[in-house]
Amino acid sequence: MNQPIKGFSKLSKEGKLEWLTSTNFARPEEAHEIFSTYWHADAEVQKRHDEFIENTMTNYYMPYGVAPNFNINGRFYTLPMAIEESSVVAAAAKSAGYWLERGGFKTEVLSTEKIGHVHFMFEGDASPLFSDFASLERELRERTAPLTANMEARGGGITSIKLVDKTANLADYYQLEVVFETCDSMGANFINSNLEEMAKQLESFAQNHPHIDATKLEVVMRILSNYTPNCIVRASVSCPIDQLGSEGVSGEDFARKFKRAIDIANAEPYRATTHNKGIMNGIDAVIIATGNDFRAVEAACHTHASASGRYKSLTHCKVEDGIFTFWIEIPLSLGVVGGLTKLHPLVVKSLEMLGNPGAEELMGIVAVSGLAQNFAALRALVTTGIQKGHMKMHLMNILTQLEATLEEKEKIAAYFKDKVPHHREVVNYFCNLRGIPAPKVEK
Ligand code: MEV
Repeated sequence: MNQPIKGFSKLSKEGKLEWLTSTNFARPEEAHEIFSTYWHADAEVQKRHDEFIENTMTNYYMPYGVAPNFNINGRFYTLPMAIEESSVVAAAAKSAGYWLERGGFKTEVLSTEKIGHVHFMFEGDASPLFSDFASLERELRERTAPLTANMEARGGGITSIKLVDKTANLADYYQLEVVFETCDSMGANFINSNLEEMAKQLESFAQNHPHIDATKLEVVMRILSNYTPNCIVRASVSCPIDQLGSEGVSGEDFARKFKRAIDIANAEPYRATTHNKGIMNGIDAVIIATGNDFRAVEAACHTHASASGRYKSLTHCKVEDGIFTFWIEIPLSLGVVGGLTKLHPLVVKSLEMLGNPGAEELMGIVAVSGLAQNFAALRALVTTGIQKGHMKMHLMNILTQLEATLEEKEKIAAYFKDKVPHHREVVNYFCNLRGIPAPKVEK
């Protein structure tokens, strides 16, 4: 029976696993065996993984695939993709091949600023804070100078500091809004460390100021924002519509239907959510493979998609003078130094596979992955439908669950080649082939 445990974090890894398996599983030995078979054979590598998080019991495998043939700004890339969902890698590879013959992908980084805030409440008269802000800013910069020196040497640092009155949104609420340039790092630790120092300086500024009642000032939080509307990358593809024909649909019809699909996503949040989910399939897979924070990127992209007040498509499309252009413009705050980038052996290999890009180059690659994924999804949706491509992998997943042999898989795949492999029909066909009774359908 699972019971609360005191001092769990102080147990050894073996002790934790012992407790976990003996108290949470009907067959503790089997559970122990499963957890430990996923340990890395090299104890040093395993130790590294153990140290990424707390209470590590084992490793959780995800497939790591690659999508070759991406022409991005005239350079060829093979994209590393860590993802559990079938068809995503195939879709990426298909789009790469399609656009390889039509001029490839272009990318452009429009801005690279990161942002963070000291959120504070002030119940008194805030006008001295504003009138003496130049002095406060000088003190904030002096206080953080030891932290920013290295970043400044790399061309980054603190770009601007503003005092913002947010009392229209919430009574007594003010911010120090700080803009950072973090070069090749995502910069979360750098930003948060600076903000924490700034908060202390803000308090001491208030305490030493003759006209500010420091007892009325309360710092609530000091934290970066994952919304980075000024850290934007654009990726696009473009070609004459007569080169667009797809799956028996003329170029003109394809372009028209494709644009309609985006119009629908812009008009209907139910569709926009699925549309953008497909984009994130491509984005997250490359982000995970390159050791970046996909939750941060997801949060930023969804806020960006809602920036107009309604949740909309992250991709855009136009047809002008016979030219089809399809693009994405999204906030992507990424790093190629710090975090997992030098620690996880597969992240090191992913970055090497991409030619060890800088953060801006990686922004472009990730945006392309999202655009390519959306192109593949919309191309299928407005022509043959999405199931055709999904079904092969779906069938294989069912057969793997049934523990079908290679020979059985080949025979069953041949049978379902031009049929939709509904789960029950696959199970029936498999049982029939093996000469065993099909299990009864559970109510
Ligand atoms: C599935 O993971 C993603 C799609 O639903 C995206 C879309 O509908 O655009 C295929």
